[in-house]
Amino acid sequence: MGKKGRIFSGMRPTGRLHLGNYLGALSAWVELQDDYECFFGIVDWHALTTGYEETEIIRENVREMAIDWLSAGLDPERCLIFRQSDVKEHAELHLLLSMITPLSWLERCPTYKEQLAQLSEKDIRTYGFLGYPVLMAADILVYKADTVPVGEDQLPHLELAREIVRRFNYLYRPTFPEPQAKLTPYPVLPGLDGRKMSKSYGNVILMAEEPEETRRKVASMITDPQRARRKDPGNPEVCSVFALHKIFNLEETEGIDVDCRRAGIGCVDCKKRLADKLVEYLAPIHERRRIWAKDPDAVEDLLAAGAAKAREAAAVTMAEVRHAMGM
Ligand code: TRP
Repeated sequence: MGKKGRIFSGMRPTGRLHLGNYLGALSAWVELQDDYECFFGIVDWHALTTGYEETEIIRENVREMAIDWLSAGLDPERCLIFRQSDVKEHAELHLLLSMITPLSWLERCPTYKEQLAQLSEKDIRTYGFLGYPVLMAADILVYKADTVPVGEDQLPHLELAREIVRRFNYLYRPTFPEPQAKLTPYPVLPGLDGRKMSKSYGNVILMAEEPEETRRKVASMITDPQRARRKDPGNPEVCSVFALHKIFNLEETEGIDVDCRRAGIGCVDCKKRLADKLVEYLAPIHERRRIWAKDPDAVEDLLAAGAAKAREAAAVTMAEVRHAMGM
């Protein structure tokens, strides 16, 4: 069967994934599995760039991330799932590309400057962190991937990868395609407090969230602060519960809008209806999770098999790269 191209994408194993990660990235990856040849890497070396001080949890996080991916519906029969550090070719290509990447390109990268400012409590003034985009370029190029599903925040890194490609192809010989970003179409998911759902805001519902915990979290959400009593009319526009209804309960959204404004529905009921929807939405994800979670060895085996296949593809590229560079 003809494929549209080759995809690489990755995530840093920094903890359990939430519904924002699912809607914003994973659900799109699941859709791409049949149309593209897909390589999905759990990029543990990237996790070291900011987390080099706490490495004990990385191994466990990799396995948890694999289970989150599988529970989202990534299918190891139809895509490759592997751990970046199992495919040493990423490191070799990173080293070679680092030789031709001007420091100025890395220092002016907006994500670099932002992170340095934001993560001021961590010392990330390291060689490895500066080179984050070079490692990311290596992840993509080692498979000659032409398509990279990512969020908007990653666009500067993709641009840098293309600049590195142009420089390599010019200096040696045309070897790499210029990888293009494929923006994932989903809107930003509001979290429990109405801000963007994000681990750092502590406002998430995990993909693995148990039904009781989902219900508890939804019940604790703040609604329209002006609506003090059940008989007061509410304003859905300022309500985080309503923002989530719009995404997970589209059929009932219009009715809830009307009922809220005329105090026809109370916040307790409105939250219960949202929680029911979320629990229902997560059910098939949990179903798959249960199967993998009880068999950690199978998950490790699958990662090893994925890495073996990824290595084969990477080895082909690396032979070409070494040759192009005259090594
Ligand atoms: N930088 C990406 C992120 O933080 C993760 C990543 C690493 C990646 N290597 C990649 C994404 C290669 C796409 C392609 O989300």
